[in-house]
Amino acid sequence: MFIGMDHVGVAVKNLDEAIKVYRDILGFKLLGVHVLTERKVKVAFLSSGGETQIELLEPLSNDSPIAKFLENRGEGIHHFAVKVADIEKALKDFKQNGVTLIDEEPKMGAEGKKIAFVHPKSTRGVLLELVMK
Ligand code: CO
Repeated sequence: MFIGMDHVGVAVKNLDEAIKVYRDILGFKLLGVHVLTERKVKVAFLSSGGETQIELLEPLSNDSPIAKFLENRGEGIHHFAVKVADIEKALKDFKQNGVTLIDEEPKMGAEGKKIAFVHPKSTRGVLLELVMK
């Protein structure tokens, strides 16, 4: 079902400042910045040199899930994302196994890929994102 890690999401207070750190100081290559109005986040994807990318997420408003995360836990790792061959099947299988899903149906992610989130209470505390490849 899984094809590999897609990206690791990091919640940040200020995307421009975080990009300066990740690109200019740490040396990751910036691939693109997207504003996701529907999800109330602005994200930047950076290359790690391999297949797994880094996603920096800044909340666009105070009611953004990222704003709530920052309030409760501060900046840091927010989720990890794995690639799946068939996201509909993965969600169906998870549901059958009693896994708590945030998204029962896939939605559109930053780069036009289908994505869905699995609730941290079913993963020992880490938000899991599925990305259709
Ligand atoms: Co993500």
